[in-house]
Amino acid sequence: MILRPARESDRDTIRRIVHEVHINPLNLDWRRFIVAEEESQIVGIGQIKPHGDDTRELASLAVIPSRQGQGIGTALVRALLQDSTPPLYLTCRTRLTSYYVRFGFVLLQPAEMPPYYRRLSRLVNLFAGGGRQRMAVMRWSGP
Ligand SMILES: CC(C)(COP(=O)(O)OP(=O)(O)OC[C@H]1O[C@@H](n2cnc3c(N)ncnc32)[C@H](O)[C@@H]1OP(=O)(O)O)[C@@H](O)C(=O)NCCC(=O)NCCS
Repeated sequence: MILRPARESDRDTIRRIVHEVHINPLNLDWRRFIVAEEESQIVGIGQIKPHGDDTRELASLAVIPSRQGQGIGTALVRALLQDSTPPLYLTCRTRLTSYYVRFGFVLLQPAEMPPYYRRLSRLVNLFAGGGRQRMAVMRWSGP
């Protein structure tokens, strides 16, 4: 498996994987993505997404279902962190927070969130009900 910056020709594959794993389909500019490729097949993707408030978000992390649980997501996160300066934010379902803790992300309370993430998580969680489907916001402050 190799990790490489995405190319324009990867655009449709990125969209297909995002739809396949049911994550946010907005803001998928291929120029911000890295991809994990194996025998000419893209098996995982991830991006760093800049926001208007100058924060940056680790986003669109996805591994194709048949290759999940084999370290590809871990390799993608490590590569994205290695090429980034802190802080980085991310949003995820509450059930995934332990996955990101292993990379040094910490769970934020609403008062600690930048306003964009606080508004987004309030809005999403209004409709999410309780439990592990709620949206969490996390921050990575460096290695
Ligand atoms: C979440 C995801 C990116 C992880 O990538 P991966 O390559 O499958 O995971 P890795 O092989 O790197 O890591 C495996 C570990 O993560 C844990 N893990 C994977 N998916 C998990 C999940 N949904 N909830 C909790 N833990 C999870 C596994 O239990 C495993 O733990 P272990 O190392 O202690 O055995 C991948 O499963 C995926 O694409 N899921 C669907 C899309 C998604 O939810 N993306 C995240 C958006 S925030």
